[in-house]
Order: sequence, then structure tokens, then C-alpha cells
Amino acid sequence: MMRCRCIFLIIFVFHVTLLVGNNATKQSSDIPRLLIISLDGFRHDYLNEHELPTINRFRNEGVHATHGMRPTFTTLTFPNHISIATGMYQEEHGIVHISFFDRLLNKTIGMDSRDEGQWSDPKVEPLWITATKQKVKSAVLFWTACHNEFYGIRPLIYSWSYSDNIPFREKIDNAISYFRELPIRLVMVYHSEPDKQGHVYGPNSPEVRDTLFRLDSDIEYLLTKVKSDLNDDLNIIIVSDHGMANVTKVIRPFFEKYLNPASVETSVLTGGLFNVMPRSGLTEQVRTNLSKIPNVTVYKRDEMPERFHYSKPASRLGELTALPDIEGHILSEATTNESDPYKGNHGWDNTVPSMQAIFMARGPSFNKNVQIRSLNNVDIYHIACHILKINPNPHATAGSLVNLTSLFPPKETVSTTTTSESSSLTTEIFFE
Ligand SMILES: *[C@@H]1O[C@H](CO)[C@@H](O)[C@H](O)[C@H]1NC(C)=O
Ligand SMILES: *[C@@H]1O[C@H](CO)[C@@H](O)[C@H](O)[C@H]1NC(C)=O
Ligand SMILES: *[C@@H]1O[C@H](CO)[C@@H](O)[C@H](O)[C@H]1NC(C)=O
Ligand SMILES: *[C@@H]1O[C@H](CO)[C@@H](O)[C@H](O)[C@H]1NC(C)=O
Ligand SMILES: *[C@@H]1O[C@H](CO)[C@@H](O)[C@H](O)[C@H]1NC(C)=O
Ligand SMILES: *[C@@H]1O[C@H](CO)[C@@H](O)[C@H](O)[C@H]1NC(C)=O
Ligand SMILES: *[C@@H]1O[C@H](CO)[C@@H](O)[C@H](O)[C@H]1NC(C)=O
Repeated sequence: MMRCRCIFLIIFVFHVTLLVGNNATKQSSDIPRLLIISLDGFRHDYLNEHELPTINRFRNEGVHATHGMRPTFTTLTFPNHISIATGMYQEEHGIVHISFFDRLLNKTIGMDSRDEGQWSDPKVEPLWITATKQKVKSAVLFWTACHNEFYGIRPLIYSWSYSDNIPFREKIDNAISYFRELPIRLVMVYHSEPDKQGHVYGPNSPEVRDTLFRLDSDIEYLLTKVKSDLNDDLNIIIVSDHGMANVTKVIRPFFEKYLNPASVETSVLTGGLFNVMPRSGLTEQVRTNLSKIPNVTVYKRDEMPERFHYSKPASRLGELTALPDIEGHILSEATTNESDPYKGNHGWDNTVPSMQAIFMARGPSFNKNVQIRSLNNVDIYHIACHILKINPNPHATAGSLVNLTSLFPPKETVSTTTTSESSSLTTEIFFE
């Protein structure tokens, strides 16, 4: 996902240190701590295409998925970060695109806006809220929607809005200092690369290659700090939200006169899908017209293949969805012939190889040298709850640990009790 937003960087670690002092430093594996890093648009294939020394070592020492991690459909940034955080499909957590209109709320919801619909549904609960409710203190940096309040609850530290202009090492420094100086047990960090370079230059570009090697050295920096500052006593999960593929064709149903713009509501969802709400009485005509586009399949909302889990939120999805049959074909709402800015993109079928994300993890709570074939990103929520010894949200049923027991050392027993820290720190610290 690319979007620039200028924000101030408040040096909040300084404030935190003043507030808390240093007594929270002592930790041990009895009180497991977890860092989850998401590298936007890091497609699984990159690991086969590039010899990344630190990331390869990380994978081999810990656990990893040889065929990558399956995102939820549609394979976009905002929806998948919420799937990872909640363990739910997009139709359940309600974040169905990067930006979408909710006809009941009469409001457009994007990565920075507050989603009253979603966060007022008690069934939907991101990991940092599950943790906070069970007295596991959390810090969440730039993960989409982490500033949203959930029944009055927020993580101890959170960033206010999406940003892609803060260096990865700065986020690493912050994450490590939270673990070192605060009784924080869960940190989630989002970073916008290699997605940005993948969009602009395409997945096979030298720019993506350079970015991957930079990220690899940033991970080396992270591991060195984990060793020196935390005595290696930290569980680390590195994931991504989706892959990246070449854009090979841009289809513009309005510009190419398949569809009259006046026949549908303005809230069109585009990219690897074209989702529209026809004006009253025009559903069949719009469907007929969209069906004339070559290499595109049109579904009514309730006919969407079950495996996509993309049909329930009626106030957020239109009645018709057109899907390109061919990966690399983009559906655009452009009404002019302006060229599409991106060489690379994502959003296509969540089962195709180019859309697969990465999964690797290591640390005291993980097994060593273990490979699994694949997993679903909705499983991450359960892996995290298991590591942190907290109870998962009972409504998060899309993922599970059923096929993932090999990720953990055999002797470990799951405990549902949590340690309660005595810190009276309630300050919310954020970027604005
Ligand atoms: C902080 O740690 C020191 C050394 O471990 C200990 O003597 C002191 O009592 C602790 N203070 C508090 C407030 O827990
Ligand atoms: C929806 O919001 C717009 C402006 O945000 C307003 O003009 C319109 O009246 C609202 N519609 C309904 C049905 O509330
Ligand atoms: C993507 O496009 C580039 C440049 O045209 C090409 O070299 C590369 O092979 C393509 N990659 C895939 C996976 O098709
Ligand atoms: C369907 O396509 C025809 C031919 O381009 C056009 O005249 C008509 O307005 C379209 N109908 C809708 C509902 O968009
Ligand atoms: C798309 O559809 C057209 C017409 O049915 C066909 O000729 C073409 O080979 C298809 N594939 C691509 C990649 O456009
Ligand atoms: C768009 O249309 C204009 C006028 O017909 C033409 O000059 C221009 O080359 C077109 N641009 C693209 C990207 O097709
Ligand atoms: C576990 O793996 C089996 C065999 O691949 C599969 O049939 C089953 O659906 C998986 N269960 C879960 C909960 O993922």
C-alpha cells in the first residue's frame, strides 16, 4: 500500500523512560515476549529469487513456511493487516478494501479513519486488545487501525496514523527499548517496504532487490540488538501481508464503455476486483455489461466462491464483483485513458503463488529448524495468543493451531494464566 502522510515524530521513548524508570527490565522465558514484524508486500517468491543472508539464517534457525503464508482475499494491505491482527476473514472483520464506503454508517473508511462499524462489533478484536484485556501490555507501531479504541481500550503505546516515511531501524530501536524498559510483552511493527518499490518498479526490479538487501541488514541490526539488549530472550515473527506481481493489463470498464458510470453508485472497489453497487433496478443490466469484458468473471455478492470469504458485509460490498481471470490484469474505475502508475500490484486470488506472503519465526517459545509447507495468515493470531499465554477471542474461528503444533517445542504446556504487572502506567503514547 502506498500513501504518503506527513507526521511528526515525537521522541516518545524518552517520555516513557521518565515515567517508568528502569525496574521493568527483568524478564525471563517464563514470561514470553513477542515481536511481530510485518514487511508490506514481501512476496514469498523473493526468498527463492534472492540470497538474503540474515533472513535465510533466521528462517533456517527457527520455523518457516516453505511455500509461504496465504493472505485473505482480497490481497490488499489494510484488510490483511486486520486479518493477521484479528484472526478473521475480511467478511468477518469488515475491512474489505484499502478504502471503502459503508452505506449504513454513510461514511468512507480508510486506514486512518475510525471504523465505528468494525470496532463496535464486540466479536472483532485485534490481538493488541485481546492482550491488553488480559493484562499483557502492548505497543503497536504503524499497524493499520491500531489507534482505534475498542470499548475504551487501546494498547499502551500506539502510533496515530499510517505512515511510510519512518526508517525501519528507528522502529526497531523503539521496539527494543519498549521491551528493555517497559513491562511490555507484545510489540507489533509495520513497515512499508518492499511494497513501495514493488509497485513503482515491479517485483523483479533492481530497486526491489536493493530494498530486500537493505531490509536484510536491518534484520541483522535487529538480531544484534535482541542479543545485546535482551539476551536473546524474545520471540520474533516476521510476516508480510501479500505478494506482488507484474501488472500486464489495465481494464477500464467505464472508459472502455462496457459500463455507464451513472448505472452504479460511486463507491467502486477496484484492482484485483471490480466491486460495484448497481443503481436501483439496474443489477441485471450491469451484470450483463460487465460479463462482456473478456477474461473477467462476474459474481453476485451471494455467489462469490465460498473460499474467498468475501460476501457478508452487505453495507460495504456492492452486489456485483468482477474478477479478472488472468493474474496481472487490473480493473480500474478510470473514465479516461490515463496510464496506470504501477508496474507491480497485488489484490488477486489469495491462492496464486505470486500473492503468497512470508512467514518465519524464532525465539525461546518456537521450535528450531522446523519447516511447514504453508499456513493461513488468520493463524498468526492464534500463534501469538499461544506464545503470550492468553485466551484467544472465541469468535476468531478462521484460523487455528490444529496443523501447527510442530512450530512449538513438544514439552510446552499451554497455560491460561497471565502475570499481572503492577505498573500504574496508563498514559497513551502516540505519534501525531
Ligand atoms: C528496583 O530494582 C532494585 C534492584 O533490583 C530493587 O532494589 C528495588 O527495590 C526495585 N524498586 C522497585 C520500586 O521495585
Ligand atoms: C450522508 O453524508 C452526507 C455528507 O457526509 C450527507 O450529505 C448525507 O445527507 C448523508 N446521507 C444520509 C442518508 O444520512
Ligand atoms: C515482470 O516483468 C519484468 C519486466 O518486464 C520481467 O523481466 C519479469 O520476468 C516479469 N516477472 C514475472 C514474474 O512475470
Ligand atoms: C451497457 O452497455 C451499453 C453499451 O455500451 C450502454 O449503452 C448501457 O448504458 C450500459 N448499461 C449500463 C447499465 O451500464
Ligand atoms: C483474453 O480474452 C480474449 C478474448 O476472449 C482472448 O483472445 C485472449 O487470448 C485472452 N487473454 C489475454 C491474456 O488477454
Ligand atoms: C489518451 O488519449 C489521447 C487523445 O486521444 C492520446 O493523445 C494519448 O496518447 C492517449 N494516452 C494513452 C496513455 O493512451
Ligand atoms: C489441517 O490439514 C489437513 C490436511 O492438509 C486439512 O485437511 C485440514 O483442513 C487442516 N485443518 C485446519 C484447521 O487448517
